[in-house]
Amino acid sequence: MTADLDVNVIDHPLVQHKLTLMRMTKTGTKDFRELLEEISMLMAYEITRDLPLTDIEIQTPVAKCTSKTLDGRKLGLVPILRAGLGMVDGIVNLLPTIKIGHVGMYRDPKTLKPVEYYCKLPTDVAERRLIVIDPMLATGGSAAAALSLLKKKGAKHITYLCLVSAPQGIRELNKIHPDIKIYTASVDEGLNEHGYIVPGLGDAGDRLFGTL
Ligand code: PRP
Ligand code: URA
Repeated sequence: MTADLDVNVIDHPLVQHKLTLMRMTKTGTKDFRELLEEISMLMAYEITRDLPLTDIEIQTPVAKCTSKTLDGRKLGLVPILRAGLGMVDGIVNLLPTIKIGHVGMYRDPKTLKPVEYYCKLPTDVAERRLIVIDPMLATGGSAAAALSLLKKKGAKHITYLCLVSAPQGIRELNKIHPDIKIYTASVDEGLNEHGYIVPGLGDAGDRLFGTL
């Protein structure tokens, strides 16, 4: 069922443990928000493994030496509103100078098609390595539309990070954006008749902002 999917699953025990807590109905808004922040930081640690390093000369209290530093390549973080906002702080904890753009996209509850309502990006988006974040990848419509919009605005290097995904959404992104690397903490069973991920965690935006 999932062998055909081009996706990277972050199976770190801390991520999996926190995801289990987030899935539970009894987890309220405060804990849900804190867990999403923590899990986003852990996932950011995993997906930044391939960031390039350069050597610089430094002076320690003991001696001069050559040491590694991030090579200054520009990064950008793009949450898909609303739910993607819940992942921002955790990632900014690790990458405090990252520039942040926003894409507003909601899924029409009847058609399940994405509707764009906001876009504000760093002006030099074409030169940045972008990390696009959204906790939920369901049909893939919202992510595919957001990624197309970013490419239209000039983005050339994009990584997509979500928390929970459905095989349908991954397939959609693999088809429309084969160049974009997808990271997720879980590939769930599928979608129900309302387009919700099963077992999933429900409506991420509503649980995050308490608008249930
Ligand atoms: C959710 C989620 C994704 C989208 C996923 O947003 O955060 O953006 O649905 O569904 P898809 O893969 O089928 O497009 P939602 O539309 O509920 O908006 P919200 O974040 O404002 O609540
Ligand atoms: N959006 C959500 O927030 N949850 C789902 O399961 C599907 C789309």
